[in-house]
Amino acid sequence: MKGRKTKIISTGSYIPEMVITNADLEKMVDTSDEWISTRTGIKRRHIAKKEEAASDLAYHASIKALEKAGISARELDMIIVATITPDMLFPATACILQDKLGARRIPAFDLEAACSGFLYGISVANQFISSGTYETILVVASETLSKIIDWKDRNTCVIFADGAGAAVLRSSSDDTGGIISIYLGADGGGAELVGVPAGGSRMPASIETIKGRQHYMKMKGNELFKRAVKVMTEAVEKVLEMGNLTYKDIDFFIPHQANIRIIQAVTKRINLPMDKVYVNLHECGNMSAASIAVALDQALDEGKIKKKDKILLASFGGGLTWASMVIEW
Ligand code: COA
Repeated sequence: MKGRKTKIISTGSYIPEMVITNADLEKMVDTSDEWISTRTGIKRRHIAKKEEAASDLAYHASIKALEKAGISARELDMIIVATITPDMLFPATACILQDKLGARRIPAFDLEAACSGFLYGISVANQFISSGTYETILVVASETLSKIIDWKDRNTCVIFADGAGAAVLRSSSDDTGGIISIYLGADGGGAELVGVPAGGSRMPASIETIKGRQHYMKMKGNELFKRAVKVMTEAVEKVLEMGNLTYKDIDFFIPHQANIRIIQAVTKRINLPMDKVYVNLHECGNMSAASIAVALDQALDEGKIKKKDKILLASFGGGLTWASMVIEW
């Protein structure tokens, strides 16, 4: 990697209190705990309150990350929020967060790369830091997917959930540790596989779009599953190669939390034992961009990541988008 080395100096996360179990879902749609557990690995998920929006979740996660870093929001030079469930179409959730945090009038913008949003956000922040433009950047992934889920659609409502994770990035003062390699990709040819059809310029809101439930997420899960395993495996191989590494160099793997079977398949293909892999989807479901951000914070809190460990991160999601990264802690 060219330029100055970028480090994640702290992380924070926020999971809403309200829980929906598989048993609760059995009362809402034609499903079963047995189907959800065996097909996805998910047991419970957390859901935001009616009045809670993405910037609220982002705020709680950011405050924790800033506290752990021992810095005030006024020291930030930029805020990036990765989300597919912004408070509103515009203004950006990042601007709303900037105000809530009491940050200076620094650049703040949203980044939309679905489940890959956190890693895309880190890679953008890395560019500004490694080039010497900025010193300290807050990257937050915040999702309130419960607000765009059709609670009558068993294809999606058993999977998705809410949560937020934040990271404070800075240039590495001693040039040790930090981001080793980053690989990003996208394939718009798969755009129709997952998304919200209405509410944008293609299909503005109307009585018909509401009646047709077009403001809710639609997903072709089966096709996505096959692509996710292939693309995530390729993304992992590529980022290891870019960092002159092999899977043997990896101490810990944090994959996107879409489905335990996807995680197991990718982990098997790259020859990693499952005890080197962080999994929180049984408790948190799929929080899109927030999944890896929350998992990273939880893994650090649980002492699973030690100084000098090489951490592999990999995601896949709507767009289609994918991203992978190796960081030396
Ligand atoms: N409860 C009970 N049965 C269900 C169900 C549910 N919630 N959802 C689907 N089914 C049924 C289907 O109707 C189908 O029934 P049939 O065999 O009688 O036709 C059967 O279960 C299998 O459906 P299928 O869609 O093939 O299941 P799957 O094993 O692919 O699992 C997902 C579905 C969504 C869990 C899985 O495809 C997945 O995780 N996909 C990837 C999602 C992803 O990565 N998204 C990216 C953005 S985050």
